Amino acid sequence: KIVPVIMAGGKGTRLWPLSRAAAPKQFIELIGHQTLFQKTLERVSDASLFEAPVVITNEEFRFLVAEQARAAGVDLSAVVLEPVARNTAAAIAAAAAVVASRFGENAIIQVLPSDHDIDAGDAYVSAVREAAAAAAQGYIVTFGIQPTEPATGFGYIEEGDALKGHARKIRRFVEKPNLEKAKEMLAAGGFYWNSGIFFYPLPVLRAELQKFAPAVLDAADTAVAKAVHDLDFTRLNAEAFSASPDISIDYAVMEKTDKAAVIPTGFAWSDLGSWDALWKNNEADGNGNVASENTTLVETKNSLVITRGTHVAVQGLEDIAVIASEDAVYVGHLSHSQEVGKLVKMLSADA
Ligand code: GDD
Ligand code: MG
Repeated sequence: KIVPVIMAGGKGTRLWPLSRAAAPKQFIELIGHQTLFQKTLERVSDASLFEAPVVITNEEFRFLVAEQARAAGVDLSAVVLEPVARNTAAAIAAAAAVVASRFGENAIIQVLPSDHDIDAGDAYVSAVREAAAAAAQGYIVTFGIQPTEPATGFGYIEEGDALKGHARKIRRFVEKPNLEKAKEMLAAGGFYWNSGIFFYPLPVLRAELQKFAPAVLDAADTAVAKAVHDLDFTRLNAEAFSASPDISIDYAVMEKTDKAAVIPTGFAWSDLGSWDALWKNNEADGNGNVASENTTLVETKNSLVITRGTHVAVQGLEDIAVIASEDAVYVGHLSHSQEVGKLVKMLSADA
């Protein structure tokens, strides 16, 4: 069975002010009545395919994780707590070491980001089965998403030789290219977006970390060896974990390994990381607007208007995001959605 590793330690600053330092996007009800974290738990709930999930998150989100898993009726194998954020390479390496000690050194893990909106129907489930089969052959596997625009917030995957089924070897992996390069790759064809959902056979993950990011592996191994277990929490050793380089798994391993494969997918997938993504991903009204309750829009087009209470009225604007939380309001052009993180850095208050 696959051991799910759910990454829930991101800060989600581009969705400020709904996503806050104390409750980032994966833990809030962005759309519908389940959080993205809870929807992620649901995707690994088939006990014939999956073991109980391991969640890796920041120390400060431990009660959000525990409470939301409980509310969803899900038992977790472990909640691994990072004392400081050291990015996804260290998080995955630490979770992998915990999995190895519980499920054996040859386990296959599925790493799931907790900020995605996915149609987890039949197409998704068969892609998971195919990915697990390719991982059992010794490949690091990711789902490839058909690109629709030269987005710069994703990794790009060039497909190589065909393997079994729909799987293909990855010829080249380019993390977050600039606009020019992204356009080139789209025009060339044969590229996918990296879904960020990875399947790793543990021995292969270890070998590639050893080769390309030994300091990350070292820090994670030591942090797990010296971890403190209390209740359901595995607290990583702070001194050891802090020593890890701050690097994402995409740069640390995926750009460098030659052991990676891609499964092209057809299911609906969206990284709900920014306001434009949220706008695109929700059904718009006749004027192209996506709006929550308690809003009035007059001569306004192609905009996203969300409020958590205060009535919001918008007049004569196009392509904008207006987001009103309990204590802060964001107004911005949707084309600036990728830069909200910069603005948040400038705010001294709790962001
Ligand atoms: N535990 C933990 N610790 N989780 C983290 C950390 C950390 O330090 N940093 C990020 N995460 C979690 C986030 O919560 C999210 O679920 C996931 O890891 C991915 O991080 P993002 O910050 O959202 O990455 P990204 O969206 O910029 O890029 C990645 O995903 C894209 C697809 O959504 C890359 O893998 C890209 O190549 C990919 O295209
Ligand atoms: Mg993301």
